[in-house]
This record gives sequence, structure tokens and C-alpha cells, in this order.
Amino acid sequence: MSRKQSFIAAVVAIAMVGTTAVNSAYADTAKYPSVDKTSADSAKQYKMSKEFVDQVSKLPPEFVAQFKKMTSKHTRFSEDATARQVMMELLSDTQCVTTMLMVENGEMAADCAIRASAHRWPKGHLLAYVQLNQINADSLGALPGINELVERGLERVAEFAIKKDFISAGAEMGNVLKGCATCHSMFRFDKGTSPYIRE
Ligand code: HEC
Repeated sequence: MSRKQSFIAAVVAIAMVGTTAVNSAYADTAKYPSVDKTSADSAKQYKMSKEFVDQVSKLPPEFVAQFKKMTSKHTRFSEDATARQVMMELLSDTQCVTTMLMVENGEMAADCAIRASAHRWPKGHLLAYVQLNQINADSLGALPGINELVERGLERVAEFAIKKDFISAGAEMGNVLKGCATCHSMFRFDKGTSPYIRE
């Protein structure tokens, strides 16, 4: 082996050792808590109030099947995160997307978009956080359209960001935000108002 060849062999060897070390460190972090591993492996069943159970059981079976299919990509669950806490994660991840698009960091924008799109699932299912009178096929029928704007939209943002098409990614991000706002105007209630303010 020439000096040059042996130098290359050494670099390759170091690179391989380096890769192995990184992989095993990654394997160690695949335990909870980590990016991949959340506090629960599956959606825990909670005892829900009778009113809630009655309302959910009135949903048509084909609607429930479609709803389950639509949400099946959420495979990260939480033992105790509320919907509002999951929303804060979503907000933080979408802020990351917009920031990274502005500085043309496509890789990180895509990471954050994918993470936001597959956000964790709150304790007791998302439906546990909407008003009872909105748990019906009519109101919830808006969700597939909203989901297309937000979760599929974020996937499209990631595809554009990876291709460094920041203009299209930014435009698509506008649809994502439209989806956030549409869902809030329909399903977000209470808004953390103070019970102490009288007038
Ligand atoms: C499927 C409907 C839905 C979608 C889509 C949605 N949200 Fe929410 N969001 C809610 C509901 C419901 C609440 C109120 C939850 C509560 O208070 O328990 C909420 C609350 C929030 C909050 C908490 C702060 C507050 O004032 O209530 C933030 C932040 C938030 N959403 C961010 C986002 C962002 C960012 C997106 C889009 C990337 C988004 N949400 C998409 C339903 C949705």
C-alpha cells in the first residue's frame, strides 16, 4: 500500500469506527425519553365520563373507521400531555419550520415539519378536549380537510424544503397556518380566560 493509500485506509477506518459509535449512541437513546420514544407505547384506555362515552358511541361506525385511518400516523403517545401541551409542541415545531425556511436551512425545516406533522397524541384522545356538542359527524366532518391542510401540508413543506425550494415551502406553510386557524375557530374554546375578571 502506498502512503497515500494507507492514509485513505486509515481515514475510512476512522470514519467506520465513528459511524459505529454514533449508531450505538443512537441505539442507547432509543429509550424513553428520546425523540423516538415517548412516555407511552400505545394509547392508554382511560375511564371516561358517561356523557362523553354516550356522545362518542353515537358517531357512525364508518366515520369512526375513517377517523382512525386519518389519525393512524400518530404513533407517539403521552401518558399525561394534554391537548394544549401537545399544541404548544406543535407551535414550537412550526415556529422552527418558519425560522429555518427564512434562513434556507432546508434540512432542519424538514425535520421540524415532519415532527410537527406526526405530533404526539394527547392523553385520552384529542376528542376528549373538544366540546361534547361538537362530537358529531357534522362538526367533525371538517377534520379531514383541516388535516389535509395541516398534516399533509407539513409533509409537502418538508418535501419542498429538502429540495431547497423555499418559496414553495413558504407558500405551503401559509396553508398549514390556515388549517391551524380553521380548527381553532371551530374547536378551541375556553382560551384560558380568567374566572376572576367580572367586567
Ligand atoms: C384538529 C384541530 C386543531 C388543529 C389542526 C390545530 N389545533 Fe391548536 N388547538 C386546538 C384545540 C381544540 C385547542 C384548545 C385545547 C385546550 O385548550 O384544551 C388548541 C389550542 C392551541 C394552542 C394553545 C394556546 C391557546 O391559546 O389555546 C396553541 C399554541 C395551538 N393550538 C397551536 C396550534 C398550531 C400552531 C397549529 C397548526 C400547526 C394547530 N394548533 C392546529 C385544535 C387544533
